[in-house]
Amino acid sequence: MKLLENKVALVTGASKGIGKQIAIAYAKEGAMVAFTDLNRDSVMEETEKELLALGVKAKGYASNAASFEDSERVVDEVVKEFGRIDILVNNAGITKDNLLMRMTEKDWDAVIAVNLKSVFNLTHATQKYMLKQRSGSIINMSSVVGVSGNAGQANYSASKAGIIGFTKSVAKELGSRNIRSNAIAPGFIITDMTAQIPEDARKAWEAQIPMRRGGQPEEVAKVAVFLGSDLSSYVSGQVIHVCGAMNC
Ligand code: NAI
Repeated sequence: MKLLENKVALVTGASKGIGKQIAIAYAKEGAMVAFTDLNRDSVMEETEKELLALGVKAKGYASNAASFEDSERVVDEVVKEFGRIDILVNNAGITKDNLLMRMTEKDWDAVIAVNLKSVFNLTHATQKYMLKQRSGSIINMSSVVGVSGNAGQANYSASKAGIIGFTKSVAKELGSRNIRSNAIAPGFIITDMTAQIPEDARKAWEAQIPMRRGGQPEEVAKVAVFLGSDLSSYVSGQVIHVCGAMNC
């Protein structure tokens, strides 16, 4: 028996990057996978194809996680199509890095809306179904910089720290209904998001990591499998760092 057989997962921002690898790892463990991203483009279609090729039910949805209405709509559509949601992975996220003195209100608001408000939007929309099921696992993508802070990332760090407070509160509020809520705090993971960082700055980051390398999205996905599965049936309210001992 695979670890996620008969479970339905919804992963946000999963056409590429960490979200995509979580969707693939879930499908490999037998889960049915619904995923979202901003647009139904060729990138989403390719991910959908890869998931279907793994022999599970899978579907990509265009949905903006920062929008309350859009999140309600997509969650309702997923439940209509898949029947339930056992695992919600709030993965969608962006960066708009800058020193505080140069950070605009627009960049602050955008990062808080996409990274933090989205977690409220999707969790709020999904909780009613999980409450009826009396089970569920919510996994929120935070970051090591949500714990440690980082110069040039005041907006991003604040959004990721906010996710941790939200995760712990939901764990306490919904624990009695067998709904678990945990966060993953990745360190430096090699995706398009970190590809934006100039080569010399990236090398300097990697040199600071005790394991001397950036992580792969698949290495984050393994932890998401653990938290989504019954292997973690008594784990809730936790932040699991996946960072090669960076910022510990
Ligand atoms: P990525 O940029 O490769 O992928 C993010 C995906 O989210 C993209 O497909 C993007 O279109 C989608 N997205 C953006 N805004 C959205 C919205 N409003 N609604 C729906 N989808 C949206 O990024 P990556 O690296 O895969 O990051 C995934 C998550 O992991 C993010 O929350 C990020 O903050 C977090 N993270 C990443 C780290 C890294 O080193 N790559 C480190 C720590 C956390």
